[in-house]
Amino acid sequence: MATKKKLFIKTYGCQMNVYDSGRMADVLAPLGYEPAEAPDGADMVILNTCHIREKAAEKVYSDLGRLRLLQKDKASQGGRMVLAVAGCVAQAEGAEIMMRAPFVDMVFGPQTYHQLPEMVTRAVRGAGGVINIDFPAESKFDLLPEEAGRPGGPSAFLSVQEGCDKFCTFCVVPYTRGAEYSRPVSQVLAEARRLVDQGVVELTLLGQNVNAYHGEGADGRVWGLGRLVRELAAIDGLERIRYTTSHPRDMDDDLIAAHGDLPQLMPFVHLPVQSGSDRILAAMNRKHSADDYRRVVERMRAARPDLALSSDFIVGFPGETDQDFAETLRLVTDIGYAQAYSFKYSARPGTPAAGMEGRQVPETVKDERLQAVQQLLNAQQVGFNAATVGTVQTVLFDRIGKKPGQLLGRSPFMQAVHALAPERLLGRVVPVRITEAHANSLAAEVVTSESVHAPAAPAGLAAMEAQV
Ligand code: SAH
Ligand code: SF4
Ligand code: F3S
Repeated sequence: MATKKKLFIKTYGCQMNVYDSGRMADVLAPLGYEPAEAPDGADMVILNTCHIREKAAEKVYSDLGRLRLLQKDKASQGGRMVLAVAGCVAQAEGAEIMMRAPFVDMVFGPQTYHQLPEMVTRAVRGAGGVINIDFPAESKFDLLPEEAGRPGGPSAFLSVQEGCDKFCTFCVVPYTRGAEYSRPVSQVLAEARRLVDQGVVELTLLGQNVNAYHGEGADGRVWGLGRLVRELAAIDGLERIRYTTSHPRDMDDDLIAAHGDLPQLMPFVHLPVQSGSDRILAAMNRKHSADDYRRVVERMRAARPDLALSSDFIVGFPGETDQDFAETLRLVTDIGYAQAYSFKYSARPGTPAAGMEGRQVPETVKDERLQAVQQLLNAQQVGFNAATVGTVQTVLFDRIGKKPGQLLGRSPFMQAVHALAPERLLGRVVPVRITEAHANSLAAEVVTSESVHAPAAPAGLAAMEAQV
């Protein structure tokens, strides 16, 4: 038995990083590392980083400054804190991290963490830091150990696809995660079954372009995400399936049809569009127009009328005019979102858009546009939430609430819901009646089985459109 050591992982960025952090813990468990709640006194600290916007990347360096002090404390007590920078900043900046922060022991990217045991050995025994930012020919998924029974609760992430070949001109992901790769169906199904055996009832399939999934099926043919989801829906005990993040161009008929056919497939899809202006979409290399996006949404809603949408928007992309931005607001109004994220464009080193000289939008203009789009999106979110009041929804209770007797969970539409409910309902999908709506959460009461009728969808969109 390896001696017990404390491992603290801080995760930045997207859900793929959350999944990766869990798998890093799995890889390190046989070496005696056990998850810790805080970095103080830990034997190893891993920062699993995000490079998507400048702020996210810079935060890593300020966190490293603080960790340096903890590392010194540990050393003064005769111990050693191994410090690692993983993830997308590690992949993008590599050796530069060790130059700026020479006390870092290991720098490794998203595709090499299955090699952590040997990296740790080298870092602890050898002199100087370990840098491992290759894109190895082998897939880490073939070499990772089985997940070590995660105490993660009833909802879990499962990476099925990784990387991106789309090269949007603003985005670092194709450089930090590498080329698109889909895990074979058999591997995904085996991991899904293990998770369900551990008590998971909701799976979120992950990928940078999850609906570009093209894994090898049991029949040797290439399966799309629609087919994969159908297969997963047959797993007994798996009550909810979600997937994120999708690209509008990869939303094919089979996946859309699955939304109509499978009650397990939740009626909430994150479908980033970035902009409503065709001129800007072209400059972004998105390879779809605003109307293409409108049509995709129309087809999805035809298959599943209560489908709710989320999205990502970038304001202030180089060359974006007031007219372009007005087109974005028009698209938001046309679609009607249940929620969405919006960001100021952030120039990322090495991406084509960062070099669009003289076309960068002033910061003050970006601020104004961000505020305007957020105001509109917030109003839509409030409207969507309000429209669920009085309806019966299912909620997957996944946490204990702050108030005594309260449980927290998510509706099919990813709304945060709280209700007074006995603890035995934790980990269960339970019908509730929504009693109150707030901007970011809903209050509800559990309905007894006698009073449940078919869960109603919110009459949300009509109400929402009237509001904005
Ligand atoms: N694969 C997904 C999104 C990946 S990144 C997709 O194709 O849509 C998550 C979000 O970050 C993006 O949707 C985009 O809105 C935002 N983003 C990416 N690069 C950015 C940049 N340079 N500046 C501001 N926001 C950015
Ligand atoms: Fe980035 Fe575009 Fe790929 Fe999404 S599709 S990860 S935004 S390059
Ligand atoms: Fe960030 Fe990398 Fe995810 S850049 S958003 S952590 S893929």
